[in-house]
Amino acid sequence: GASVPQRIEEKRRAALLGGGQSRIDAQHRRGKLTARERILLLLDPDSFDEYDMFVEHRCSDFGMDSSKNKYPGDSVVTGRGRINGRLAYVFSQDFTVFGGSLSGAHAQKICKVMDQAAMVGAPVIGLNDSGGARIQEGVESLAGYADIFLRNVLCSGLVPQISLIMGPCAGGAVYSPALTDFTFMVKDTSYLFITGPDVVKSVTNEDVTQEQLGGAKTHTAVSGVAHRAFENDVDALLNLREFFNYLPLSNRDPAPICECHDPSDRLVPELDTIVPIESTRAYDMLDIIHSIVDEREFFEIMPSYARNIVVGFARMNGRTVGIVGNQPKVASGCLDINSSVKGARFVRFCDAFNIPLITFVDVPGFLPGTAQEYGGIIRHGAKLLFAFAEATVPKITVITRKAYGGAYDVMSSKHLRGDANYAWPTAEVAVMGAKGAVQIIFRGKETDAEAEYVDKFANPFPAAMRGFVDDIIQPSTTRRHICHDLDVLASKTQSNPWKKHANIPL
Ligand code: COA
Repeated sequence: GASVPQRIEEKRRAALLGGGQSRIDAQHRRGKLTARERILLLLDPDSFDEYDMFVEHRCSDFGMDSSKNKYPGDSVVTGRGRINGRLAYVFSQDFTVFGGSLSGAHAQKICKVMDQAAMVGAPVIGLNDSGGARIQEGVESLAGYADIFLRNVLCSGLVPQISLIMGPCAGGAVYSPALTDFTFMVKDTSYLFITGPDVVKSVTNEDVTQEQLGGAKTHTAVSGVAHRAFENDVDALLNLREFFNYLPLSNRDPAPICECHDPSDRLVPELDTIVPIESTRAYDMLDIIHSIVDEREFFEIMPSYARNIVVGFARMNGRTVGIVGNQPKVASGCLDINSSVKGARFVRFCDAFNIPLITFVDVPGFLPGTAQEYGGIIRHGAKLLFAFAEATVPKITVITRKAYGGAYDVMSSKHLRGDANYAWPTAEVAVMGAKGAVQIIFRGKETDAEAEYVDKFANPFPAAMRGFVDDIIQPSTTRRHICHDLDVLASKTQSNPWKKHANIPL
């Protein structure tokens, strides 16, 4: 027989070829890259250290033990590498081997990198492309999923976890991405669902395509399951590299600081006139965000879902920040169920990973109506309130216009331990808008009370006089103020009372 070095070489070569050239070609014909090509694009050149290339599945049923059914490395490529010089652990499911299906061995490989990532303190990136449980292995495969889920949960808040869905991800498999911090998808070639179109048809008699049921559009715009979608594999992986630069490696690390060429004291004159005089007219909160952050670079999270709130990552003087802003352009920036949940999850990620929060407030309140009340807006709105209140990272808040009612309290107010709370001269901190207020107080009687109300409440003074905002600032100086505060707050320490864990209203 062959010598050991020859056998090593043969196995390595076989591993590199996954399920073989014809299946690689099929993968390419679908517009998809292979598991290894994806890893090479994601990581810095020559930085990939692979683990477990010699691991094989251990199933002997259904002829699986014949040598033609064994692939060195099985159906997932795992290891560690660098993204712009910073450590990351990765697994990349190989659709060319049994459709990337999850065997016991496959799961063990993933668990190994997750365990190391947790110990070392580095993010886990999963590139998902899998037909689900390895059918031939039965319960072994289910156990494998649970082993991964448990680690997803234990890693939550410890190291950032990112899932990029690059093919099928169905059945129980979906719960690993669901447990990670961010789920990104590739348009047209990826889908996520609990049960496929055939099962849906037989149970509910609905006719639905894979794309309608669980494609990128569905999950980024309708369900809120995915946080971003990208055009193709290359676009997705390059965006993932960019995204990675914002994240700390673990909860023990500060958020990274990049070199910054955008002056921290840069004035933004256009902000002095951005808020329209009529308080019912809309403007785009994204314009404010872009003009204030470094180099206008904003990595938005969930840009197509619950668009009445904007969340995402940017840098201020090189430092990563999480930005939350009401969006007056959509539903007047009202908070509703979806925007509360979207905001809350983002705030909690930032707090878990030492990323300061900057909140831009222009909120007329919570969205009224039976749909919202029956849907549990009280319970869901409480999530955002909870998230801001428990957060101990530096919190800077800028009230650009309306800050009405309970929504004022929720949006990172002074009362929830905001560190620096500013009002622009256009700010109105009040229980509600003047029209509604006067209707309630005077029950429709003709009075000039509206003018009195506006004069008394529709301005920043009542809040500023009580110290609920620290200062009223000229909008053009907002960037300077925030950068300065972030420098000072870099040494902030604050902690919550000891507890096993809090009980956020789910
Ligand atoms: N277990 C074992 N092998 C699987 C598999 C699984 N769950 N899913 C796919 N495969 C194999 C196929 O047998 C096929 O093998 P081959 O290359 O030797 O022919 C290969 O992976 C590719 O699958 P194929 O069905 O040809 O690809 P497709 O792109 O047409 O369809 C899926 C992809 C995922 C939609 C389809 O394979 C599927 O429905 N798989 C089962 C999904 C499932 O119900 N999983 C269990 C529930 S968790």
